[in-house]
Amino acid sequence: MKQYLKDENGNMRKGKPVSILNGPFNQEGTKEIKELFDGVDPFGFPKPSKLIEYFFSFSINNSDDKEGIYLDFFSGSGTSAHAVMNLNAKDGGNRKFILVQLPELNKTESQFANICELGKERIRRAAKKIKENTGADIDYGFRVYRVDSSNMKDVYYTPDKLGQMNLDDMASNIKEDRTGEDLLIQVMLECGLELSLPMESRDIEGKTVHYVAGNSLIACFDDEVSESVIKKIAEDQPLRVVFRDSSFRDDSARINVEELFKLLSPSTEIQVL
Ligand SMILES: C[S@@+](CC[C@H](N)C(=O)[O-])C[C@H]1O[C@@H](n2cnc3c(N)ncnc32)[C@H](O)[C@@H]1O
Repeated sequence: MKQYLKDENGNMRKGKPVSILNGPFNQEGTKEIKELFDGVDPFGFPKPSKLIEYFFSFSINNSDDKEGIYLDFFSGSGTSAHAVMNLNAKDGGNRKFILVQLPELNKTESQFANICELGKERIRRAAKKIKENTGADIDYGFRVYRVDSSNMKDVYYTPDKLGQMNLDDMASNIKEDRTGEDLLIQVMLECGLELSLPMESRDIEGKTVHYVAGNSLIACFDDEVSESVIKKIAEDQPLRVVFRDSSFRDDSARINVEELFKLLSPSTEIQVL
């Protein structure tokens, strides 16, 4: 499609960046973050959210365009999240942001351990301010993930390389310092489920059961999960259910789970880590 810079009336077409930016300038970024942090700039010359909003506006084709995922791979103080929330507050949009930041130490003296901690606090304070100023009924929440090594011990990936000394490792193929949430995120990534989906953890007879996007994925990584808990999970008809090996007292309990699901939720895909 051939598009001209100007429309038939000689007006600049919307969404075409002009080469010379006439503001907003960085001073506004410093002023903005100082307003959020009681007069202190904990980062040092962040970009103004209005400038990032201007850049993001290039991707908005028309007034119905209220979705989208905005990625900032060098997120610093979190200005891009601020800009996305500003845009959403203006038109009731449901745009999402993904911010990536190394846990680098702050160049500027501040109470934050590193720039990631600063960025998180900035997003919280910006969200609070936008809510107070606009009263907009939008999603102000965000989740934080840290890239780490696999939850699984090598035995999981290279069982053929096992030797006598690795017997201990066979007891559990999951690293001891990993939580149920860690395993849940791993399974979601493996299933291609977005990490922004609604998640809920319920206590069922003392066992923690995780629900993702309703019953799209239900997981329980506790040890020795009883038949009545498994029955309750099956009655929720999950598309996919995930347990860990140690969730079953013994092999017959493991087989029994298959039978239970065949009975109560035959279309459920069962996975055991
Ligand atoms: C110029 S600052 C971004 C400032 C941001 N636009 C703001 O308004 O606050 C660049 C940031 O990228 C981070 N960074 C540098 N290399 C990185 C990498 N490989 N992955 C993630 N973040 C990185 C730095 O720690 C720094 O905070």
